[in-house]
Amino acid sequence: MCGIVGYVGKEECTQILVDSLRRLEYRGYDSAGIAVFEDDKIKTVKAKGKINEGLVKKLEQTGTLHATSGIGHTRWATHGEPSDINSHPIGNGRVSIVHNGIIENYRELKAFLISKGYGFESETDTETVAKLLDYYYDGDPLEAIARAMNDIEGAYALGIIFREHKNKIFAIRKESPLIVGKGEGESFIASDVTAILEYTRDYYLLEHNEIAVLDESGIKFFDVRGEEIEKEIQTADWDVSAAQKGGYKHFMLKEIHEQPAAIKNTVSPRVKNGLPDFSECGLTEERLRSYENIYIVGCGSAMHAGLVGKALIEKLARMPVVVDIASEFRYRDPLITEKDLVVIISQSGETADTLAALKLAKQVGSDTFAIVNVVGSSIAREADMVMYTNAGPEISVCSTKAYAVQVAFMYLFAFEVAFARGRIDEERCRQLTNELLNIPDTIQKCIDNEAAYQFVASKIMNADSLLYIGRGLDYSLSMEGSLKLKEISYIHSEAYAAGELKHGTISLVTEDTPVIAIATQSALFEKTASNVKEVKSRGAKVVMICAEETAVDASSVDYKVGLPSANELLMPLVTVVPLQMIAYYTAVLRGCDVDMPRNLAKSVTVE
Ligand code: F6R
Repeated sequence: MCGIVGYVGKEECTQILVDSLRRLEYRGYDSAGIAVFEDDKIKTVKAKGKINEGLVKKLEQTGTLHATSGIGHTRWATHGEPSDINSHPIGNGRVSIVHNGIIENYRELKAFLISKGYGFESETDTETVAKLLDYYYDGDPLEAIARAMNDIEGAYALGIIFREHKNKIFAIRKESPLIVGKGEGESFIASDVTAILEYTRDYYLLEHNEIAVLDESGIKFFDVRGEEIEKEIQTADWDVSAAQKGGYKHFMLKEIHEQPAAIKNTVSPRVKNGLPDFSECGLTEERLRSYENIYIVGCGSAMHAGLVGKALIEKLARMPVVVDIASEFRYRDPLITEKDLVVIISQSGETADTLAALKLAKQVGSDTFAIVNVVGSSIAREADMVMYTNAGPEISVCSTKAYAVQVAFMYLFAFEVAFARGRIDEERCRQLTNELLNIPDTIQKCIDNEAAYQFVASKIMNADSLLYIGRGLDYSLSMEGSLKLKEISYIHSEAYAAGELKHGTISLVTEDTPVIAIATQSALFEKTASNVKEVKSRGAKVVMICAEETAVDASSVDYKVGLPSANELLMPLVTVVPLQMIAYYTAVLRGCDVDMPRNLAKSVTVE
């Protein structure tokens, strides 16, 4: 999704803006640009394509820009194809803006502005905002912004500059994320804190309907009536190394390796006296006893983490759990009531559909509990209760450690629900919690088995299509494995409940369709082994992921990936490692852009 940066200070800002944009590349984009105050003009340079091939080349042609403040943008095209003209910043020399989000009523705004004599160059919705600001501007930027905000419908984070207000940046947001960074004699705006970590860790979270004004004297905040307001400063507890590759070839590989530490950081602070403790967010045992149903809502990998949660809660707490894809949940009139708990899972905390699902649940009166990675994100701020997965920044578009900590959180949550509702006793709860606390060591052993995953990747890299199969918890993991592979290697794959194959999908199986079978649950092992035989007899090459000590039938399994021993219930946290690594090495062997797969954005802030 689009990324926004802005700088006001004493330094030459072109390089600062370009470097900050580079740190937002992971969000996904197809063009980039900057606009700076040079002399008494706004000077804009923007280009289609990646920063180095587009913007940087154009800047070299333009010659050095001498400016100490400006705004920058990476665009992920929604309205209008990726092109120089559709790139941001967008404006007319008097007002220039960068925008993340979607202006829903842009057609009406455009018609209105055309009737007032404005012409339009780009196909973007953003241009209507730039022109609307110009229309309302009569010397008072705050008033122009407030009037424009009154007219605009949709989601937006905006960085705005006015030629007549040299070295000043104005910023507003509704739904889309935007933070304001405070350095020593300099200030910033950015879509997220990773963009500015190299310069400062101190930042403000901009709320809806607040306007930030950054200039050489510092930062001020105003409400829409133009009254100044005070805001509390936050400090990011990540340092700049958290957002760097640290010697790994890709962020994805680094983030896979960070999983043991990330799980420790997520689980340990929520264990008190050997038992799960959710009191930090007000989710008391009494509350947990009161709910009739639990709904878990998310998108993509976050939803897959919810599937593991469902299996655990239903098994341990004997309580019904519905897992929903957020984009479906929000439009299907779900059967939630004020007696239910709606659990919202999101790494970014900004996913548009997930945020909308949360708002819907709140309207109905359900309690909402968000499990989010990005501190201060929209979902974290909207939910009744929030707990953070302390994974640190996840830069690779393909989620790995964020999924792992979401799953780890699901365990702790399931233990707590089961204990609060009297379905497991204190001793069992302590024992399970203790095993969860120790699982990072087992995950580390699994990570160390990298050669096995490289080998499997070399065997599947030329396939056109693959199947992942499993039962129960292993089926949930199959979905995550399949998503990882298709997302970054562009090989088509599908996840199937192993027993369901013969009801249609097995017709796809040929000697050219590798099958990755997951079988970590002993009660279901023989069942999955029979399904493996069925695909093997249709010619498939079979990779079996199972416990190291499990004996497999060599006549039906071509490659076995052995997992270190752990409590079977906790196996998903271990199993996900080979699935991530196989996807990773397959993508590397196929020469794919692992960290920034085509067409994808890290944080999906549009529906
Ligand atoms: C897959 C992936 C996506 C996200 C999904 C939800 O690797 O990263 O499927 O899991 O877009 O994003 P968040 O968790 O930010 O709401």
